Amino acid sequence: MNIAVLCSGNGTNLQAIIEAVKTGFIPAKIALVVSDNGGAYALTRAKNAGIETLVLNPKDYPVREAFDKEVIKNLSKKEVGLVVLAGFMRLLSPYFINEYRNRIMNIHPALLPSFKGTRGVKDALEYGVKITGPTVHFVDDKLDHGPIILQSAVEVKDDDTEETLLGRIHQEEHKIYPQAIKLFVEGRVKIEGRRVKIT
Ligand code: GAR
Repeated sequence: MNIAVLCSGNGTNLQAIIEAVKTGFIPAKIALVVSDNGGAYALTRAKNAGIETLVLNPKDYPVREAFDKEVIKNLSKKEVGLVVLAGFMRLLSPYFINEYRNRIMNIHPALLPSFKGTRGVKDALEYGVKITGPTVHFVDDKLDHGPIILQSAVEVKDDDTEETLLGRIHQEEHKIYPQAIKLFVEGRVKIEGRRVKIT
């Protein structure tokens, strides 16, 4: 199966996925890395691994759907079977979600449905939760809402800062994202309503 990874930033999750493909843990090919940010370090990681990249500047696409159509055109060319959002800080249009329904995954740095949005780590820390951690889920029409594939618990320590907590959440992200992708590629992920069953 060909997969595409969409990133906006550092790309540590992309790196974990690249390694997992390299070792054969994920039996798939990363056919394309797409970014909406030409300065994203994720692009350097992709290039270092010999993966094709595509940068699209949102400013060139005043309408969200036009940007998404351009991405989809490129994904179709590569016959992509799974779209992986890894720190892609842009909402997908309903058009995109329909085109790849149940074939788009996202990782969020909090235990959904808690602490949705772009400040998942900060909000959890400020709220005072004792347990948090990342969630891998399918993407549907609502923000951080689709069926949950995997989650991992991370204990919040009394002296945690956003940075130290994020560091431990990232360690878990780098385990569960490759794991979820592997399960999907192997056809072992079944969606039943809101529940995802692993066979
Ligand atoms: C990850 O921690 C991911 O959970 C978060 O962005 C980070 C990207 O890191 N995503 C969101 O907050 C989505 N709402 P990375 O670029 O190093 O993989």
